[in-house]
Amino acid sequence: MRWISQLKLRTRLNLILLSALTGLFMLVALLGYRDQQAQVRELALERARGIARQIIETRNYMAAVVGDEPARNPALTPQVVATGVARRLTADSDYVVRQISLRYRNPANLPDAYEHQRLQQMANQPQAEDYRVVSEGGQPVLRYLHRMDAEASCLRCHGDYAAAPDYIQRRFGPQHPSYNYQAGEMIGAISVQVPMAWLEQGIAANLQRDLFYRLIILLVIFFALGTLLRKFVLRPVLLASTAMQRVSRTGDLSTRLDLPAAQDEIGALLAAFNDMMAALQRSDLQLRESEERYRNLIEAAQAGIVTFLADGKIVISNRMAEEFFGISRRELLGRSVFDFLDDRTGLKQKIAQTVEPGGLDDRIETRLDRIRNANGQPLDVEVRLLLASSADRVPLYTLLLTRAGGNCALLADETAPDTP
Ligand code: HEC
Repeated sequence: MRWISQLKLRTRLNLILLSALTGLFMLVALLGYRDQQAQVRELALERARGIARQIIETRNYMAAVVGDEPARNPALTPQVVATGVARRLTADSDYVVRQISLRYRNPANLPDAYEHQRLQQMANQPQAEDYRVVSEGGQPVLRYLHRMDAEASCLRCHGDYAAAPDYIQRRFGPQHPSYNYQAGEMIGAISVQVPMAWLEQGIAANLQRDLFYRLIILLVIFFALGTLLRKFVLRPVLLASTAMQRVSRTGDLSTRLDLPAAQDEIGALLAAFNDMMAALQRSDLQLRESEERYRNLIEAAQAGIVTFLADGKIVISNRMAEEFFGISRRELLGRSVFDFLDDRTGLKQKIAQTVEPGGLDDRIETRLDRIRNANGQPLDVEVRLLLASSADRVPLYTLLLTRAGGNCALLADETAPDTP
């Protein structure tokens, strides 16, 4: 995942936005599809149930009104009428409606392999219905079975051979398996097949249309969000970062950003940048001023002032110091202050002590010492050592030199350079 953190914010946002929206989009599409599929199956099942109910009702009606007509016309047998009517009603559809039995009388009612297997199962189960969507020739088909149990009325023709009407006996001999049912025993089932291909095609078409609209919505959301983000977040942030880069490159502390109208977090960020720049500019000005004051003060001092590092290397000196040491300021810089002192070990010890905190600050000690200028001429001086600053952990020391016996206005005033 490291590569993600290396992308530009804009790319990363686009990526996150796009994947989140696409994920959501797919999920909704999938759920919608499953929902529709379930609905379609429910619809097919309802139709199959309707047909089965209609067959049962027709059969019951026929059984109630029919007398010995089937003797002259077997087509008037209640079962045959019921199935015949249902078949006609579904003639213009691709439904298949049948009556089946494992011990069939009419070979047209022979169960197919699927029905055979299900009928055997159903014989041992109490449920009246059995249905599932199976694939036939690659197409989904709802197979619905509604069991038919032997009632007392059925046994007239399906019970004892001897008790069956003549015309039944004539058609089906005593050995025929369609006799000898017990009341409550399953005789067979109504079988309805509802091809679902066209229904599922409908869903697929719906899905395609749905996907198309959702894609458009997705794109609109994506671009709208992207534009908003760019306008209100990315562009201001980019503006701020370019301004910061410019400041660090040019050191121009007068740089300010145009504040957006919105008083939001980004607006606050940009305002904070401007405040920071103003504060920096103020303190920069103070710093310059105090530096200048310091320089003027040092120059005006009646004492020689040299500031040096712990190893003695001189970094700052004033006019009086030039006079004392008898060489120009440029030559002084970089030379060691110890070179000019007679008692250099004493000073070195003092400096060594100042490593401890508070070493020099509180008690400024005046010592007599003798310096030798560049020409080797000796000069007795009063020496005062100060710890000038220890910023950045590099201590800077300052020596104040005055002619022995002369008084030093600088120290009597206790004036110290006010560093900001
Ligand atoms: C009047 C006589 C008669 C009665 C009563 C009768 N059946 Fe039948 N049944 C037949 C005949 C005849 C057939 C064969 C129809 C054909 O040729 O398609 C048949 C066929 C069937 C079939 C189709 C399977 C096959 O054997 O071909 C089933 C299932 C069935 N009957 C169930 C019942 C049930 C359940 C009842 C009671 C509600 C019942 N029958 C009442 C005469 C009868």
